Amino acid sequence: MTLNNLSDLNAIARKMTAKGKGILAADESTGTIQKRFDKIGVPNTEENRRDYREMMFRAKDGMKHISGVILFDETIRQKAKDGTPLVKLIEEAGAVPGIKVDKGTKPLALEPGQTVTEGLDGLRERFVEYHKLGARFAKWRATYDPTKPSHNAINANAQALARYAALAQENGIVPIVEPEVLMDYDNDIDACERITEWVLKETFQQLYFAKVALEGMVLKPNMVISGMKASKRAGVEEVAERTVKVLKACVPSAVPGIAFLSGGQSDEEATAHLNAMHAFDPNLPWSLTFSYGRALQAAPQKAWSGKAENVPAAQAAFAHRAKMNGLASTGQWKKDLEKAA
Ligand code: 13P
Repeated sequence: MTLNNLSDLNAIARKMTAKGKGILAADESTGTIQKRFDKIGVPNTEENRRDYREMMFRAKDGMKHISGVILFDETIRQKAKDGTPLVKLIEEAGAVPGIKVDKGTKPLALEPGQTVTEGLDGLRERFVEYHKLGARFAKWRATYDPTKPSHNAINANAQALARYAALAQENGIVPIVEPEVLMDYDNDIDACERITEWVLKETFQQLYFAKVALEGMVLKPNMVISGMKASKRAGVEEVAERTVKVLKACVPSAVPGIAFLSGGQSDEEATAHLNAMHAFDPNLPWSLTFSYGRALQAAPQKAWSGKAENVPAAQAAFAHRAKMNGLASTGQWKKDLEKAA
């Protein structure tokens, strides 16, 4: 089957990865946002989750640098305090609303320590509903432990990513394909590079078998980086060079854009790495930007801490991070800009 909506999908994918902007990953599940709220002492209620996200979506200075927002199922149905759907706030800010559709990682049978992402059952029907609710892109995340490579896990996850991506395109929704080699281990950068390359090669092979149109998708990869617990971690230049090298070897130029996850890097580290990639190679074949969760939200979460009177300070903290990453996405970020703020 040929897609009759490919030019629409391509236009959305380009808007999501437009120059100088990036994606806000605000799709934490109720369990994940609990961990974030615990750190700032905020009870994990539906109202607090709404107030927190409404604070970001109404932050005009921050949203100027945001091209798309990934939402969780609860959020795409929620209304702001004044009754405006949150999706409408995002659209009014000029960003594309998106939806996380995977149901999380589960242990892979007979493979201790490996996971496979679930959520394919009923996905076609869910896409139809999410499209009606305003979603124009979706996200599916698979994770891999770089210290325990497994062909079976890489293959199972690549097939699931491809089936998800095909279903999304069939329903007029741009798939963000997110194969994440995790950064929480003690591995060196070589291990991350090897597994990232393997995962990307396998993922693009399965996308091909599933007839996914590369022009209508966005890739969300990890950076090639040392594990957070490694005794010696590679520097910014090395991360940038190795990441660009692997992406060029694995990602066809038909893909309009690549948007990185932050994966537990500090705010500034995630910004510096993205910036250095553009400095290293100003003529990349795809748009290369961010789709950060933690690296965009840690500062505003702390500033907000669940108090209405802190909303302006939290919005300023969000605007600062979004602006810094917007600059990094074109190689124009400088460390002094952090201090100036
Ligand atoms: P982090 O940037 O916090 O890794 O989150 C991005 C994301 O969407 C993970 O799926």
